[in-house]
Amino acid sequence: MTMVKVLVVDSDAGRARGIEAVIHFLEHEPVVVSHVEMLTAAARQAGYALGLITDDPGAVRTSAWLAALGQTLPNLPVFLLRPNGVRVSNGGALAGNVMGILGHPLRQQELSAALRQALSHNAQQGGAAQTATLAVLPRLVGESTAMQRVRRLIGQVAGSDATVLILGESGTGKEIVARQIHAQSSRRDQPFVPINCGAIPTELLESELFGHEKGAFTGAVSSRRGRFELAQGGSLFLDEIGDMSLHMQVKLLRVLQERTYERVGGNKTHYADVRVIAATHRDLEAQITQDAFREDLFYRLNVFPIEVPALRQRISDLPVLAEELIRRIEAEGRGVVRLTAQALSVMSQYSWPGNVRELANLIERLAILRPYGEAGASDLPERVLEHARHAAAEPSTARVQSTVDYTALDSADALTRILVPDDGVDLKEWLADMEIRFIRQALDLTDGVVARAAKLLRLRRTTLVEKLRKYGIQREGLDVS
Ligand SMILES: Nc1ncnc2c1ncn2[C@@H]1O[C@H](COP(=O)(O)OP(=O)(O)OP(=O)(O)O)[C@@H](O)[C@H]1O
Ligand SMILES: [Mg+2]
Repeated sequence: MTMVKVLVVDSDAGRARGIEAVIHFLEHEPVVVSHVEMLTAAARQAGYALGLITDDPGAVRTSAWLAALGQTLPNLPVFLLRPNGVRVSNGGALAGNVMGILGHPLRQQELSAALRQALSHNAQQGGAAQTATLAVLPRLVGESTAMQRVRRLIGQVAGSDATVLILGESGTGKEIVARQIHAQSSRRDQPFVPINCGAIPTELLESELFGHEKGAFTGAVSSRRGRFELAQGGSLFLDEIGDMSLHMQVKLLRVLQERTYERVGGNKTHYADVRVIAATHRDLEAQITQDAFREDLFYRLNVFPIEVPALRQRISDLPVLAEELIRRIEAEGRGVVRLTAQALSVMSQYSWPGNVRELANLIERLAILRPYGEAGASDLPERVLEHARHAAAEPSTARVQSTVDYTALDSADALTRILVPDDGVDLKEWLADMEIRFIRQALDLTDGVVARAAKLLRLRRTTLVEKLRKYGIQREGLDVS
């Protein structure tokens, strides 16, 4: 066996040294990690063959480690070390990538056997496994405080089986959030089954969710499994839950309460081992007052709400989102397109009612319009341009402030008396947004000569260069000299 790297996860330094010694003895290379925060750095090294996690109930919870590993090294086979010596090999219901349990103190023969198992597993998966999971799971990008918060919430809830309710306007990325939760959970190797409750007629939704037996209704020529059954062991994504009829809401509530259901026309009770993630663009609380949504179901679903903010509320994410969407088109071999600074600047004054989906469509369009070229402001559709012209026509103070499109703040009149919105304001983000706007405008006015733009902003050139780097501001022909 050639030398391989073994990731050792143990918060107890003394115990970790013992494990390291065994690994060294077998002429492999141990890398010890004792805090979750160290994991990301350790994960940057390539070529781990195996992870060993000491399953110590007294220390950091093993499930937290598994969740963290699932994010950083999703394909790494893992063995748990049980200090109490309970040895099970390949016990049935092991979470995530756990392949087995070894006794502690670790013995050479056991470690050798585990390594062989891990290496053959890695060989079977090949390099393809990694790229396959990446291809189906799009990245959730965005550095705004709002998006960082969403990512933090995903990390917090993924490891549990709690029901999650994802709220947000159309196109904000609710489905990506749902997929991320699943991918970071211990159910990640089990199915993720989405169903759009709004797109399926009420009469069909019940059999779609719970399945049906042969002859249950006219046309039911054979029995069929429903989405709950297909999602068994994994996650069920109930999209557009706000569009579900009251009749179906009752049925769903029962499954959430009792974890059991029957197929339509059947009498066998099925147990649902399914993590439910729901999403809607509707205001469910308003629907409750209109008797269109059941309050009891709302409370069942609302255990852990995640609000995905509208794009206009995190417009500082626009450049990285555009970059990511362009990268996807490029990865699919559908061309490359670049956006000029002016185009981006105009785009960040637009309100994006269709959010990231609208941005994705626009970028698709630009990629067709300017394949392998550069798209400028004049390539943007009229509705986007109109918005920017409107903003430019406003008095100068208002123009600056209108760059952050806080729901109620987009009319010039409101802008002259800026008020803290009812739901508060993220001051840091707001100021960062303003800073980015000023910098972009200054660069536009000085044709990208950073020294002159710096003068205009009364900044030192080096300070401006630092800010450009911090915000990832790039433009064609930027002259940083
Ligand atoms: N933060 C993000 N990073 C990268 N891509 C994103 C992000 N948010 C959304 N997208 C992309 O935008 C598109 C729309 O996202 P998604 O389908 O998840 O939105 P949604 O909220 O479910 O929309 P709808 O309500 O219309 O169903 C997808 O192509 C998705 O990959
Ligand atoms: Mg969706």
